[in-house]
Amino acid sequence: MSIIEKAANRIGKPVAPAVPLAHVRTQMAPPAPELLTDSQNVAVADLPEVEAPPQGPAVALSNAEPAAPEPLPRPTRMIELDLARMNEVGLVTAAGGRTNLVEDFRIIKRPLIKRAFAARKPNANPGNLIMITSSLPGEGKTFTSINLAMSIAMELDHTVLLVDADVARPSVLRTLGLPAQRGLMDILLDDHLDMSDVMLRTNVNTLSILPAGTSNPRATELLASQAMKSLVHEIANRYPDRIVIFDSPPLLLTSEAHVLASHMGQIVVVVESEKTTQHAVKEALHQLEGCSNVNLVYNKSRELNTSSKYDYHYG
Ligand SMILES: Nc1ncnc2c1ncn2[C@@H]1O[C@H](COP(=O)(O)OP(=O)(O)OP(=O)(O)O)[C@@H](O)[C@H]1O
Ligand SMILES: [Mg+2]
Repeated sequence: MSIIEKAANRIGKPVAPAVPLAHVRTQMAPPAPELLTDSQNVAVADLPEVEAPPQGPAVALSNAEPAAPEPLPRPTRMIELDLARMNEVGLVTAAGGRTNLVEDFRIIKRPLIKRAFAARKPNANPGNLIMITSSLPGEGKTFTSINLAMSIAMELDHTVLLVDADVARPSVLRTLGLPAQRGLMDILLDDHLDMSDVMLRTNVNTLSILPAGTSNPRATELLASQAMKSLVHEIANRYPDRIVIFDSPPLLLTSEAHVLASHMGQIVVVVESEKTTQHAVKEALHQLEGCSNVNLVYNKSRELNTSSKYDYHYG
């Protein structure tokens, strides 16, 4: 019996129609063979610089009617990811070499990337919007979101926006060793703020981050608001060629997570090995009924845990 079948048995058969994606030493359903053949990883340092937006004032072409000045593009702020530290704490980086973890995320990302830009039915949600969720807290949503974002950003042809949508317990920046910044909450609460005012470019040229933003007691409610729905549509329209990964709240603690799920083109449910109960997974999948492209990642599995690097995390 394959490791994926064992994992599926453990969490119980009724998890269908969600597709197990892999095993970190995480677990997804076996991708189609051609999906496993890729090897496009490149050193991030080799990627071309993203062009900075033009800074000069708009110029009127005709002197007959003075044209209304176009608003200047707002420069996106820049943060420096400490790649050495990320590597030390076991996150995927281009400099980390081919660890088991890198290989796991290579398998996990392949079908997600393929579906991200596949033709879709009219009215289907954009496949490039990918929600990472779980039944309960602590199963590895942020770990999976960051590693998936890094892994996809290491590819030649893809740019990634990582959104910290777990607004009640934001942890993307913290996990990266960075202080909190304005972000999603601030845009939802202030009509004058544009996404580009709070979005962070990083030293991984193909990766930007939208932090969760200023904490707010209504944070989780806001995720289910009309403003959030509009923002997700704006992200989809503005960045149709980016993969957008939403680190999201767990499904069983709040009712809002499933509203967020309804805007997504793909959903990844992280299941913590040997901890999450079959009942919890079934309940989570029940919340996702009607959503398309639901996938399972079986996380923190020890079965294939052979590298000492990987062992470190189980200490
Ligand atoms: N595959 C893994 N290998 C090793 N450690 C892991 C793995 N997945 C997650 N962890 C660790 O487990 C802990 C919880 O992970 P993480 O913060 O990603 O969970 P979460 O689902 O985002 O939690 P929360 O619901 O609180 O946001 C972290 O310390 C993380 O580093
Ligand atoms: Mg988290």
